[in-house]
Amino acid sequence: MARHLITSAIPYINGIKHLGNLVGSQLPADLYARYLRARGHEVLYLCATDEHGTPAELAAAKAGKPVADYCAEMHEVQAEIAKGFRLSFDHFGRSSSEQNKRLTQHFAKVLDERGLIREVSETQMYSKADGRFLPDRYIEGTCPACGFESARGDQCDNCTKQLDPVDLINPHSTISGSTDLEMRETKHLYLRQSAMKDQIEEWIDTREGWPILTTSIAKKWLNDGDGLQDRGITRDLDWGVPVQKGDDPWPGMEGKVFYVWFDAPIEYIACGQEWVDAGKGTDWERWWRTDKGADDVRYTQFMGKDNVPFHTLSFPVTILGSGEPWKLVDYIKSFNYLNYDGGQFSTSRGRGVFMDQALEILPADYWRWWLLANVPETSDAEFTWENFQHGVNKDLADVLGNFASRVTKFCRSKFSEAVPQGGEQGPRELQLIADLTAKVREYEAHMEAIEIRKAAAALRGAWVLGNEYLQEVAPWSTLKEDPAQAAMQIRLALNLIRLYAVISAPFIPDACADLLKAMQTEDDSWPTDVAAALTLLPAGHAFTVPDVTFRKITDDERAEWQQRFAGKRD
Ligand code: 2FM
Ligand code: ZN
Repeated sequence: MARHLITSAIPYINGIKHLGNLVGSQLPADLYARYLRARGHEVLYLCATDEHGTPAELAAAKAGKPVADYCAEMHEVQAEIAKGFRLSFDHFGRSSSEQNKRLTQHFAKVLDERGLIREVSETQMYSKADGRFLPDRYIEGTCPACGFESARGDQCDNCTKQLDPVDLINPHSTISGSTDLEMRETKHLYLRQSAMKDQIEEWIDTREGWPILTTSIAKKWLNDGDGLQDRGITRDLDWGVPVQKGDDPWPGMEGKVFYVWFDAPIEYIACGQEWVDAGKGTDWERWWRTDKGADDVRYTQFMGKDNVPFHTLSFPVTILGSGEPWKLVDYIKSFNYLNYDGGQFSTSRGRGVFMDQALEILPADYWRWWLLANVPETSDAEFTWENFQHGVNKDLADVLGNFASRVTKFCRSKFSEAVPQGGEQGPRELQLIADLTAKVREYEAHMEAIEIRKAAAALRGAWVLGNEYLQEVAPWSTLKEDPAQAAMQIRLALNLIRLYAVISAPFIPDACADLLKAMQTEDDSWPTDVAAALTLLPAGHAFTVPDVTFRKITDDERAEWQQRFAGKRD
C-alpha cells in the first residue's frame, strides 16, 4: 500500500466552470483518486477555489457584490456542483483562507531571506479613465510572441506565454476599454526565477516518464529567448494576500497584494491544513513535509496545458527556493483543450455546456464516461452532441447497461431472483476468464500510468467480452436442452455484473453503486484474481433486477440540446 497525494488545478472563483475545465483537471484527478483508493492505497485528494486576483474582483464587480461575499457564495455553488459530479475531494478549500495567507507570507519571507526576491521600481500601466494601475486581466492587447489579439496582461491563452502587462501591443483597459494609458512609477517584488534556472532545468530533465506535453512546455519557457525570466509577484489590488514578510510589514509595499499565481499553488499545501482544521484529518505535514514522512508520498498534479508553466517553473522555484523540506510534485499530468462543437468552450463568452447545466439534463455518470473516454490527452478533442449521444448509447446503454439488464431479467424469469447453482464450467468459460484477466491487467496498467483514454478502452473491452460470451453461449437457447449449463452460464454472468461494478466505479460511481446494490452485496474487493472474483456470489445469493442503469439519448433530445446550448449563456 502506498500513499498518494493528488491535487487538481484550483478553479477560479469567477463563475461556474464548463465541461472543458472539468475534463482538464478535476475529473481525471478524481478518476485516479478513486482508482487508487479502490486498490487499497491511502489517498489525499485536495482541491480548492482560486479566489484572488483580477478574475475574482472583476466577477464580483459584475455581480454587484463585495468581493469577499461573492467568493463565499461562489465557493458554495462550486462545492455543490462538484458533489453533483461526485468529485471525491478529501477537502475542497479556499485560497482566501487564513491558512493560505499565513503560508504565502511565510514563503515570501523565506524566499526574501535567501535572496530570491528583488524589489523593482518600474513603470506600470496607469489608466487615467479608471484612476488606477492596471494589472493582469484589467488589461488586454496583442501577444508579442504569437500575435493573438486578446492576450491578457498575465498570460497569452493562445501560446501559453507568461506575460507582464507592459509586454502587450496595443493595450487597453478591460474596465473601461480606454486606451488612454500612461506609464507611472511604482515598486514591485520579483521572484528571481532566473537564479534558479539551472536547478529547475536539471529537475525537469531528470523526471522520468513525464508526459511530453508537460516537459515540452516547461522546456520551451526555460530556453525561450534569454531563458527563464524573473516574475513580478505583487499587484496593485485590494483583494488578495497582503504583501508582508511573514507577520512583519514589508516597507514600501503597503497596500499591495501578492499576485494570484503566487498564492494559488501554495493553497495546495494550505488546503491540507484546512483539511485538518476542518476536523477531517489529523496530520497534514505527513503529506507535505519530507522531514515529517512525506518522502514516502507520491504526489501527482492534474491540470490543463495553460497551467503547466506555473507548475513546472514558478511553483517549484517557490518550493525549492525556500530551502525548506516541502514535498515537490512527482508527476504532472497535463491536458490539451476540449473544444465545443466547432469552436472553443469559453467562460467569458458563455459558450458551451457548463457544469450546472450538464447535471440538469443528465446524471453525472453519462458525462463522466464520455468526458473521460474522450479526454484531450494527446491532442485537443472535440465535444459534439452526435459524439456524445453515440458514445453514451453505444458504450453505456448497449454494452454495460444491456448486459446487466439482460442477465438479471433472464435469471428472474427462468430461474429466480437468486444466483442459480448450475453445472461445471467448460472451455468457453475458461477462455472468458483468461480474456478478462488480460483485459483487467491491461486496464490496471493504463490506470497506473494515467493513460486515461487507453484505460477507458480497456474497460469498454472488458464489458464487450461479457456481451460476446453471452451472445455466443446463448443461455436462452441452451436452457431447454441443458438447464444446468444455462444456470452455470447465468451464475457466471451475475458474478460478472459485480466485477464490472467494482472495476468501473472510478469512471461511473453512481451506476456502479446501483449495480452492487442490485446484486445485494457490499463486497467491492478488487478482482486481483479474476477467476476467484467470479465465484464471489454463491448459488442461492439473492439479487434484484436493477432499474434501468443507462437509458439512451434520443435523437429528439440531442437536437433539442444542440439548439439550447448553441447560444450564449447569460
Ligand atoms: O487556470 C486556472 O483555472 C487557475 N485558477 C489554476 C490555478 S492552479 C494552482 F496553481 F493553484
Ligand atoms: Zn501568444
